[in-house]
Amino acid sequence: MRTWRIASRSSLGLRLCGAVVTVCEREAGLVLVGLQALPPQQELPVRDDLQHVALSGHQELEALERLLAPRRDLAGERVLVTSGPTREPIDPVRYISNRSSGKMGQAVATAALRRGAEVILISGPTTLTPPAGAVYVPVQTAEDMREAALQHLERATIVIKAAAVADYRVKQPSATKIKSRKDEGLTLDLAPNPDILKELAARKGRAFLVGFAAETNDVRANAAAKLRAKGVDLLVANDVSVKGIGFDAEDNQVTLLDRWGGAIDLPKMSKLEVADAILDRVVGLRAADRSPASNRAAH
Ligand code: PMT
Repeated sequence: MRTWRIASRSSLGLRLCGAVVTVCEREAGLVLVGLQALPPQQELPVRDDLQHVALSGHQELEALERLLAPRRDLAGERVLVTSGPTREPIDPVRYISNRSSGKMGQAVATAALRRGAEVILISGPTTLTPPAGAVYVPVQTAEDMREAALQHLERATIVIKAAAVADYRVKQPSATKIKSRKDEGLTLDLAPNPDILKELAARKGRAFLVGFAAETNDVRANAAAKLRAKGVDLLVANDVSVKGIGFDAEDNQVTLLDRWGGAIDLPKMSKLEVADAILDRVVGLRAADRSPASNRAAH
């Protein structure tokens, strides 16, 4: 049994700063035993048997936040999330990849878990610890990601593709380390990778499909074209040229474009808040599409 006094300024800390949480650790994770909220301003006496935590233990914090999460509106849903970059080998020591850290995809997985969904997180290489409770499928290349996504697609009710898939791979990676010859250049013969999102759109059945678009210019127009070309239900348009959002940032600022013509510009927020806003939009669009009063045009 462990008792924590919440002292951090995490999202949980802001809501519950000063509260005392008692949890019991079981094999399957943390079980909430007691939660004693304090009136604002009241100071807790320092006690040796309490851990005054900054709640930085990532997985503990995640588990605790899920235990305390007020919303369970995704209970019964199976959310398939792809996240992070892919790595396409050049030789045994080099690869082609991109700047994705996996934070956005992981935020989506975390938000969906907190709201009661079963989550399958397919992730390219990242340094992040996967959220407790997700089925975690680590992959390397676009082809690995494609295989894993197709394997899990059938059971998914919502698919969210936040991954930054490398568009090209080396046609024939070298089995041995390519020698560096300073006086010569190196030409790589590249082949296009499969478009996983497009393939998922063709095979998704009744699942709700969300894609992302990483753009550096004409963001709205390029994203709208991608929404149509990829055949998704909702597209999250991301201007990755702006400092402090997008790749490897803690925050993001996106526009949500849907196939029924809706467009919502969201303010800059934490990736977790963006993830919740995306999930809110999925829930809202699905409900509206099912409603008999809906006169939305089909795709
Ligand atoms: O991981 P972070 O550091 O947190 O950064 C987050 C992010 C910037 C990576 C994320 O918010 C984002 O924008 N993800 C999409 C990146 C991307 O590859 O965008 P794109 O416009 O190239 O691709 C459009 C969509 O097609 C994406 O959903 C992508 O997953 C998918 N795609 C792309 C190429 C390909 N061969 N197969 C795909 O499925």
